Amino acid sequence: MPDPKPIPIVLDVDTGVDDACALLLGARHPGLDLRAVTCVAGNASLDQVVANTLLVLETAGRTDVPVAGGARRPLLEPAREARHVHGDDGMGDLGLPPSTRAADPRHAVELLHAVLTGAAERGEPVTLVPLAPMTNIALLLRMYPDAARGLARIVFMGGAALVGNATAAAEFNVWHDPEAAAVVLDAAAELGIPVTMYGLDVFYDVRVTRAEAAALAASADPVARLAGGLVLFQCERFGADDATVGDAGAVCAVLLPDGLRTQQLPVRVELAGSWTRGQTVVDQRADRSGGSLDHAHDPHGLAPALVDVALAVDAKAYAELWLGTVSAGSSASSSPSRS
Ligand code: BDR
Ligand code: CA
Repeated sequence: MPDPKPIPIVLDVDTGVDDACALLLGARHPGLDLRAVTCVAGNASLDQVVANTLLVLETAGRTDVPVAGGARRPLLEPAREARHVHGDDGMGDLGLPPSTRAADPRHAVELLHAVLTGAAERGEPVTLVPLAPMTNIALLLRMYPDAARGLARIVFMGGAALVGNATAAAEFNVWHDPEAAAVVLDAAAELGIPVTMYGLDVFYDVRVTRAEAAALAASADPVARLAGGLVLFQCERFGADDATVGDAGAVCAVLLPDGLRTQQLPVRVELAGSWTRGQTVVDQRADRSGGSLDHAHDPHGLAPALVDVALAVDAKAYAELWLGTVSAGSSASSSPSRS
């Protein structure tokens, strides 16, 4: 059987240690056709995110992939960086020389629109994978709703059914720009775009050990070395013997959807709330049909956005997929493998 055609994808990132892990997978896996990368303020300032993203793609030998900068701040809130998690340069302070490549002159929204319009014309819809606050995506779907014709689906990292990280209730990407996340879910429901939420219920489960990272870092292959450095940075920062590949798990979900247990559930984003702004409110009530549901006590009705919420992940398969891809250029003796 011939290999199936690579899946066309676009990543929207706030690179970001784990966004970098995702970019390496997206850039290098033969099952993916990385059409563009768009950047947004999040883990670091927009300019830093663009610089980090260009550096990762150059390391992966993918200077053919256009990279565009987008929103410098969320729709309503000021930008809030996460250097305490990702380091001063937003990508693990690895001391790598910057890329000399310039970003695409278009705004991220314009690049997304161009790529999705072309995809619609060719009948090859793209999977959009936002790994960051969804400011660019909200602007895109409101400015150019016709872009939905070029979208196969959206698989976003963000939110959670059960937990938070930025606050007790909210995950960072949604917390950073709750209005944008709400707009994206609203637009997806209106435009009929299927959405998968790869949130904190699975995000931390896909892990690589310090020993595996050290083997990567010792490789002669620049991709493996960068991948190892990113994981080792996290092990050091959090004093742990392993670290998550984070956003890279959402890219694994595109390649290996069977490794994810999802349930289609109504989701809303909390935009007010004393303690819960930015929480994804996932309706897990057993009977949402109205039968035994106490509608007298629920004036909201069901959320219009039905989302495939990731509730469990085959963490071993995803970690192996990531490790196998980023070490593919290493010699057999130095590449880490799990048996
Ligand atoms: C998300 O927030 C960022 O810190 C990571 O890059 C990831 O996208 C996790 O909450
Ligand atoms: Ca991210």
